[in-house]
Formats: sequence, structure tokens, C-alpha cells
Amino acid sequence: MMENKDLEAEIHPLKNEDRKSQENLGNRLKNEDNLKSAAAQSRLSRCRTVAFFLSLFICLLVVFVVSFIIPCPDRPMSQSMWRIDYNAAVTYDFLVMEDINKDKIRDVVFLYKNTNGSNSSNRSCTDEGFSSPCVFMAAVSGANGSVLWERPMVQDVVLVECTMLQPSDSKTSSACILVGRPGSFLAIDLLTGETLWNHPSSFGANTSILSPLLQVPDIDSDGAPDLLILTQEGKEVSGSIYSGSTGHQIGNRGSLGMDGNSSPLLHITRTGAHYILLPCASSLCGCSLKDLYEKVTRKDAPFKSDPHWENMLNASTHRLLPSSGAVRYLMNVPGKAGQDVLLVSSEACVLLDGQDLTPRWTLEAAQVLRKPILGHYKPDTPAVVIENGTGIDRQILLLDLRSGAILWSQILPSFPGVLPSTSLPTADHRSAFFFWGLRELTDTNEMDPRDARHSLYIFHPTLPSVLLEVANVSANTVAFNVILLESSRHAAYVLLTGPASSDVPGLVSVIKHKVRDLVSDSRVIHLDEGRPDSDQAIRDRFSWLRYRSEV
Ligand SMILES: *[C@@H]1O[C@H](CO)[C@@H](O)[C@H](O)[C@H]1NC(C)=O
Ligand SMILES: *[C@@H]1O[C@H](CO)[C@@H](O)[C@H](O)[C@H]1NC(C)=O
Ligand SMILES: *[C@@H]1O[C@H](CO)[C@@H](O)[C@H](O)[C@H]1NC(C)=O
Ligand SMILES: *[C@@H]1O[C@H](CO)[C@@H](O)[C@H](O)[C@H]1NC(C)=O
Ligand SMILES: *[C@@H]1O[C@H](CO)[C@@H](O)[C@H](O)[C@H]1NC(C)=O
Ligand SMILES: *[C@@H]1O[C@H](CO)[C@@H](O)[C@H](O)[C@H]1NC(C)=O
Ligand SMILES: *[C@@H]1O[C@H](CO)[C@@H](O)[C@H](O)[C@H]1NC(C)=O
Ligand SMILES: *[C@@H]1O[C@H](CO)[C@@H](O)[C@H](O)[C@H]1NC(C)=O
Repeated sequence: MMENKDLEAEIHPLKNEDRKSQENLGNRLKNEDNLKSAAAQSRLSRCRTVAFFLSLFICLLVVFVVSFIIPCPDRPMSQSMWRIDYNAAVTYDFLVMEDINKDKIRDVVFLYKNTNGSNSSNRSCTDEGFSSPCVFMAAVSGANGSVLWERPMVQDVVLVECTMLQPSDSKTSSACILVGRPGSFLAIDLLTGETLWNHPSSFGANTSILSPLLQVPDIDSDGAPDLLILTQEGKEVSGSIYSGSTGHQIGNRGSLGMDGNSSPLLHITRTGAHYILLPCASSLCGCSLKDLYEKVTRKDAPFKSDPHWENMLNASTHRLLPSSGAVRYLMNVPGKAGQDVLLVSSEACVLLDGQDLTPRWTLEAAQVLRKPILGHYKPDTPAVVIENGTGIDRQILLLDLRSGAILWSQILPSFPGVLPSTSLPTADHRSAFFFWGLRELTDTNEMDPRDARHSLYIFHPTLPSVLLEVANVSANTVAFNVILLESSRHAAYVLLTGPASSDVPGLVSVIKHKVRDLVSDSRVIHLDEGRPDSDQAIRDRFSWLRYRSEV
């Protein structure tokens, strides 16, 4: 403003002379006023500064006092490695991780068969009415491997499965169901090891139980999901339903009217109907839960059936779909809307739409002898890991679950009986994959399987040309998992080893390692010559991988 006026005055010097002198007077008066108010303002701002620093000081004082006087809550220290041994024992393919002692670190539950418990247990087989040796269930602390509880449970184990038996808001959340031989059927509270219910089982000596046990929606309205056990006697498959909270049988045993001898699956169609799917000779067979329920109870079922599925089902043979080759595995996988079904047969892998069972994609010419596992190769896009073949030319294939496109493949020789692969979600919305394979990726032809060491390899999709060899085992391995023992903290590797044959007792061990500690001593394997990264840079990238809890 002032500048403009001055400019105007320069252009018209005479015309503005008078006005200018008047203005100057006015300005001077105004300036005096301004000076006075400025002095007042500076006093005020000094006050403000003092007040500001005073309050800042008080704040800092409070922060320091609080942080020194009130200590952080103690997080229990998790040992980077622990190991627990049992001599002259036998173990089973069963490993469950759950926080039992409520220290925010998941603990490890497993089974072993032995004469005595561990050194710290005072319960023996005879105390529980079994002859020696019998099957113990043990829970050990995930933090340091100390025994939390252990008890003889059954004489011999036929089937074991841990599920949520109670509604999740209830205190006792997880339970393990055990079917024992001879004739016991019981549920164990996972947190205490105490028996929730125990009944003599009605399964005959010639009856085999199809694993897994299926969980069906609450039928007896006690708030807990119920249990469906499928059994096979001769060629016939039957189903029995049990109350989850009491273990009492609901109705009688009912025949499904089909043959079949392996892994049943409970599938929910997009219309909300429950179907039991079962591999039967070169086909996929099925039966609605509604039909089975009506057969066993002779009452109207609280379940729906799906008219489209009823049309597809052959009423006399219960065939749903023909399949090329014998069906080996059935699994539910997440689809775009609801669950789809992945069917693995001796000839191909097929993703079936969860509602109309049409194939979405088919992978031909794959010899899959291992149940596939799921993970994420691209962020938030489900992928499936398929092992093609066993032995020297075993190939690991990572497929996009939506399209069936091969994302990554690698030859990774192994001997039959190697532990299954596993995956763990990482913070970048992908997964780290853990594969077992022979240590030497080549020259395995003349190797004696008994001298073979299997190594554990980590793979992450952001480093597709690298495998990291993190561990090796020579002992007979029974079960294994990589899991977040502490949420958003360290991933741990838990390995259960034991004798190969259940007739010859030997050393049974449970071993836990932090994955990051294994990474720092690992061997980097370059799958191609492309990347110039140094081995140490690659180890660092793996050791900074952030894992996240399963969703
Ligand atoms: C089992 O425990 C008893 C007493 O503690 C002991 O005498 C016996 O040798 C133990 N048996 C085995 C096989 O460890
Ligand atoms: C039992 O004690 C023996 C000898 O002290 C030890 O080697 C073994 O690891 C202990 N086992 C368990 C399960 O604590
Ligand atoms: C084992 O010890 C606990 C206490 O340590 C005791 O309550 C329990 O009765 C004992 N059990 C047997 C079978 O001796
Ligand atoms: C293991 O940790 C538990 C707490 O989680 C503690 O009570 C116990 O004394 C520890 N045992 C050992 C052998 O450090
Ligand atoms: C079991 O099968 C065997 C032979 O297959 C037969 O001799 C026996 O009687 C059967 N037992 C029962 C309880 O059905
Ligand atoms: C059911 O299967 C049997 C034997 O394969 C066949 O003879 C019959 O025609 C089928 N029924 C229907 C309705 O498709
Ligand atoms: C599976 O392995 C066999 C034998 O190594 C090979 O011929 C076949 O092409 C592989 N299948 C796929 C889908 O890669
Ligand atoms: C097996 O792993 C250990 C470390 O866990 C390592 O020292 C050893 O060299 C490995 N052995 C073989 C044959 O790779």
C-alpha cells in the first residue's frame, strides 16, 4: 500500500504534495499509538514465552517422573532356543500352539507314549488306570520349555484334534478331542489338561475312523458347536453326531450310503447349505448334513439343502462329480465369494467353484502326494503351494489361486516322508514359505536315505532367486511348524522328532528356535546368477522380515 502511494507521488509530485504532508502527520500519530501497543505486546509475549517454557518444563518433569517411578510391565523373556527330551518314548504327528499360561507367548502341546511322564510329573499310567506304556499329553512353555502340565490320557491314540468347543466368549476356549483305543472318547481342556468329558466309545474293533473330525453347527442348542465323526466299516461309511459340550451322542449312527476311505470335508455352499464331501473311487461323493441329521435323529433338521446340489447328486451312488484319477485331497480355499474347493487327484489339481462345482482351472500332469498349503505370493492374493512328485525330481510349484498360473517353481529333491511345507504371513501382505528338501540340491542319486540330512529352506517372494538354508536334521522328524509364538514378535520354529517306528521306543525331542537366530547362521543359495547382492545383504533382508499373526 505504502509503496503504491510513493510510486504515485513520484509520478505526480506536485499534485500530491499537500495530501502527503497531511498523511505524514496522521501516520506519525498512528505510529506513536503503534509503539505503545507494541511495548504492551512485547511484555505480553514475554509472559507468554515464560508461561510456555514453564508448562513445557512441568510436562517434561511429569513425563520423567512417571517414566522412572512407574516401570513398564515385565514381558516374560523368551529364550531363543530350548529343547525337551524324553527317553524310550514314541511320539505322534500332533503339534498345537496356544497360550496356556497366559504370558502372551504361545505354548506347545504334543503327545508321547512312555512308561513315565517327564521328571517333573508325578502321574503315571497306572494312576490313571492304564497299563504301561500309555499316551501322555504334555504342554510346555513356549518361553523356556518348562512343563506346564502333562497327564496320561489314553492307552493308545487313534485320532486327536483340537478345536474351539465353547463359544469364543466363554472362559474355556480350546479343547482337544481324543479317540483312544480301546474304546475311549474324551475332551481335554487345553488350558488345564483336565478332562471336560469322557465316555466309552462305541467304535468297534474293525471300524476305522476317518480323519479329520468335522465340526458342525450347534444342533443341541447348548451354544457349543457339535462334532461329526465318520467311520468306515467294510466298504460302508457312517456318521455319528456328538454334542460338543457333553460328548453325548445325538441320535444313532447313520449310513452315508457311499464308500470312501479318506479325508472328508464339510463344505458350505453359497446358499448356506452344509454338504459332507468325501473322495470315493474316481469321483467326488457327497451327502447333505440335513439328510444325515434326519437319518440319525428321525427329526426335521435345522439345516438347508441346496436344490442345485441335490440335482447334481446321484441319489443311488451319492456321486457328485467324476474325477480324473482317484481323489487324494480335498480342501476348502478362499474364493471371491465364499469358499471354493481344491480337489487333488492322482492326475490333476482342480479348483472347483464353491457353488456350482465347475472347474475354474486345472493343473494337469502333476503327481501331488502332499496336501497343498496356502500363502500369499503377491500382496493379498492367495497362492497355493503344490509339490509335484517325490524324490529326486520333486518340484515345488507356487500357483496363483485365482487363475492357476504358475508364479514360481523350483526343483527341490527330497526323500518320501519329508516334513510338509508351511507358510507364515509377513507384514508386506505376502508370506514367507518354509520348504524341507535334501541338503545337496544335486548328486543325490547314490545317497543312502538313512544318511540323508534334510534341510529347511526359507523362501520369500520379494527375493525369488534365493533360498536360505536355515537348519538341517538327520533324526526322524515327526511334526514341525513355524509360527508366531508372540503376536507381532519373533517367529519360531518348533520341531518334534522321535523314532521312526512306534514299536521301537527311542529319544523324543521338542526343539524351539527363533527363526531370526537361524537366519544369521544360514547358507544363501542362489538359484540363478542374476542378483549381485552379497550373501550378508540377503541374510539381513531375511532377518528384518516382519511376520504378522494369521488372520
Ligand atoms: C519310572 O519311574 C519309576 C519311579 O520314579 C522308576 O523306578 C522307573 O525306572 C521309571 N521307568 C522308566 C522307564 O524311566
Ligand atoms: C529328565 O532328566 C534327565 C536327567 O536329568 C534329563 O536328561 C532329561 O532331559 C529330563 N527330561 C525331561 C522331560 O525333563
Ligand atoms: C501330584 O502332585 C500334586 C501336587 O503337586 C498332587 O495334587 C497330586 O495329587 C499328585 N498326583 C499323584 C497321582 O500323586
Ligand atoms: C520358565 O518360565 C516360567 C514362566 O513362563 C517360569 O515360571 C519358570 O520358572 C521358567 N522355568 C525355567 C526352567 O526357566
Ligand atoms: C473283524 O474282522 C475280522 C476279519 O475281517 C473278523 O474275523 C472279526 O470277527 C471282526 N470283528 C468284529 C468285532 O466284527
Ligand atoms: C446314478 O448312477 C448309476 C450308476 O452309475 C446310474 O446307473 C444312474 O443312471 C445314475 N442316476 C442318475 C439319475 O443319474
Ligand atoms: C510334474 O513332474 C513331472 C515329472 O517330473 C513333469 O513331467 C510334469 O511336467 C510336472 N508337472 C508340472 C505341472 O510341472
Ligand atoms: C547342519 O546345521 C548345523 C547348524 O545347525 C551346521 O553347523 C552344520 O554344518 C550343518 N550340517 C550340514 C551337513 O549341513
